[in-house]
Amino acid sequence: MKRTEGLYISLDSCKKDFPTLKRKIYGKKLVYLDSAATSLKPETVINSVTDFYTNHNANIHRGVYLMSQEATSLYEKTREKLKNFFNVPPYGEIVYTSGTTEAINLVASSWGKANLKKGDTVILSGMEHHSNIVPWQLVAKERGAVLKYIPVTDGGELDLDEYIKFLKEEPVKIVAVNHISNVLGTVNPVKDIVKLAHKKGALALIDGAQSAPHISVDIKAIDPDFYTVSGHKMLGPTGTGFLYSRKQLLNAMSPYKSGGDMIEEVTLESAIWNEIPYKFEAGTQNIAGFAALGAAVDYLEGIGMERIAGHGKLLSKKAREVLSSIEGIKFYGREEGSAGGVVSFTIKGAHPHDIGTILDLEGIAVRTGHHCAQPLMARLGVPATARASFYIYNDEKDIERLFNGLKKVMEVLKLGS
Ligand SMILES: Cc1ncc(COP(=O)(O)O)c(C=O)c1O
Repeated sequence: MKRTEGLYISLDSCKKDFPTLKRKIYGKKLVYLDSAATSLKPETVINSVTDFYTNHNANIHRGVYLMSQEATSLYEKTREKLKNFFNVPPYGEIVYTSGTTEAINLVASSWGKANLKKGDTVILSGMEHHSNIVPWQLVAKERGAVLKYIPVTDGGELDLDEYIKFLKEEPVKIVAVNHISNVLGTVNPVKDIVKLAHKKGALALIDGAQSAPHISVDIKAIDPDFYTVSGHKMLGPTGTGFLYSRKQLLNAMSPYKSGGDMIEEVTLESAIWNEIPYKFEAGTQNIAGFAALGAAVDYLEGIGMERIAGHGKLLSKKAREVLSSIEGIKFYGREEGSAGGVVSFTIKGAHPHDIGTILDLEGIAVRTGHHCAQPLMARLGVPATARASFYIYNDEKDIERLFNGLKKVMEVLKLGS
């Protein structure tokens, strides 16, 4: 296969930093193409988890002893790194969550229950992950609010004319859309979406689960009211993520979970909440995970988000070019590739699960199914797709392996001529 000149070739050396890539699957070298679900972790992140449990294992905030202070410091240092990495403005704060799902549930529950009333409109889009649909369905049902969905065009973009129409015609309270689609790779114009929402007096939540790992996210410039991130998709441990919001908004919101650490004072009758962000961080957190998320941020900063975005775009474009010769293949999403690094496809006559199973036997991990985006699948007219998602440790050799794997799929399923 002819090699393409591009930024991503210089990222080849990344592979050695990811010990999981040394694994053999059914005797074949692993090709991991499921980073949109969760990324692999570099050695520095794995070492950071081990170091925490080996040397600093203690609960945070409550201990006067050295190890507890060290644990608190590691936990809080990551918060500062994240604020810096995502350019969080001084009037903003980040609340640790287990990921985007918990962050959106927090907003839908704490903000939604207090602010939505009968007849209010919540705008979502037709390309949302279930975690940015179901929490809103629950709160809308409880409060009598109405959900409207920005349609997805045939080109896989959000129909912004419809969005503007909704804003004009409906009593919109909040708009919640993703920054990058986990199925199509579409990078949505979130700055404009937020601006239009604010003009109408509505709030805006941006689901950054797929953008945080792949592009430079400037929260101050986007100016959302809420921004959600999954740490485990950006090289961090599972069970880590955060919710960004303005301090003023967070101060006005009630806690989502309650118990230890989120209180200032408790009597038999009542409680006074701790200051933000601790008000929203009840109970023992994933301390080791957040400590190690700092190492993930360091790693990404070491490469640079511009390079990472270019890498994702080039690999997804190249993959589409190479795989297009497979008979009956159909792609969903942008032909020119996406910084999100995803390539979703179906092959005529092959069930996506069969594609995934045969590829697995070839040592290639892809995701198949509805990708937690069933309304989008319905819009695309398919029950499921196969999805290869590329990240910093992937290269052209992985595309070649995928191509050969798909040829095997065709052979096993007796497809093509
Ligand atoms: C766009 C999008 N939103 C939300 C989520 C949910 O993230 P998590 O499982 O980390 O809570 C995902 C996960 O795939 C996603 O791709």
